Amino acid sequence: LHSSSFRAAPEDLDRSKDGINADVNWDELGFNLVKTDYMYVMRSCQGGKFTSGELNPYGDIKLSPSSGVLNYGQGLLEGLKAYRKKVGNGFVLFRPEENALRMQRGAERMCMVSPSVQQFVHAVKQTVLANKRWVPPYGKGSLYIRPLLLGSGPILGLAPSPEYMFLVFAVPVGKYFKDRLPSVNLSVSDEIHRATPGGTGGVKTISNYGSGLKAQVEAKYRGFTDVLFLDSVNKKYVEEATTCNIFIVKGNIISTPATQGTILPGITRKSIIEIGRDHGYQVEEGLVSIDELIDADEVFCTGTAVSVTPVSTITYCGQRFQFKTGVETVSHRLYNTLTAIQMGDVEDTRGWRMEI
Ligand code: COI
Repeated sequence: LHSSSFRAAPEDLDRSKDGINADVNWDELGFNLVKTDYMYVMRSCQGGKFTSGELNPYGDIKLSPSSGVLNYGQGLLEGLKAYRKKVGNGFVLFRPEENALRMQRGAERMCMVSPSVQQFVHAVKQTVLANKRWVPPYGKGSLYIRPLLLGSGPILGLAPSPEYMFLVFAVPVGKYFKDRLPSVNLSVSDEIHRATPGGTGGVKTISNYGSGLKAQVEAKYRGFTDVLFLDSVNKKYVEEATTCNIFIVKGNIISTPATQGTILPGITRKSIIEIGRDHGYQVEEGLVSIDELIDADEVFCTGTAVSVTPVSTITYCGQRFQFKTGVETVSHRLYNTLTAIQMGDVEDTRGWRMEI
């Protein structure tokens, strides 16, 4: 299928208005690919900006073998979620402008052309509305939205791609971790690092994820849920896991690594910092050493896909350290507040929700 050959007519889109009728077992949702109906596609003009895009049926895309993304890794991804409202029709997005701005910062770092915030948000809304039958019932999960920016133009010598493609697809999801685990076991990666100072750790390039796979696969083979990376210079400061940011709790103090170039500035991370302060905790951003981590009362991960996930154990240098989990924890309190805001259950005093 050549995606640009199709323009969704309004009568086609009406098909998706008939409520929750997708062939999905909503009680068994994990984080697995489910093909939905439509994706949004927008192409830049040669050497220029994005103008307008359109909905296409979800399907394969056509790319030149010499495209910038395939040859030189010019690619960025984003992730955000839409929730079905508890009462009435409609859906709620969580801080989509933040994803748009993060994509713009990534595009600047990777010498790419990016959509405007308005174009990004418009594409996300269109994708959700066109796939509305795939948005899980209230309380069963969310529609995970995956925007991609790709260097699609042909190139041979190393240089920025002459053209870019912006794509948005969406998948119904539940909990991220395998077996929908309520808490996870991490191992600290001692040899492989995710990011280096001056590198791209602070933006959401596709290559940041591919380079973490080896450590993740090895950790999973040894029975861990995921891997935690240390900084590549001192090898003693905690950075993040393969897919999420990390927080520690000690008494009334919550700490998380500062975003100084090697840490992905997560939108969930940023929201949890604010929510934590509102709940009366002292929230600090700075260096978090492995010794502080080991000594913590609680450890938890944050991210769009993982939401707020408690860490029950961390294994470092052959020793296993255990942390508090369950309903009486700080992370549980923060998770409850965050998800209540995201799902539209409490008043949105910060303007984080976008209703569509
Ligand atoms: C997200 O949490 O949205 C991400 O992009 C992480 C991804 C590897 C699932």
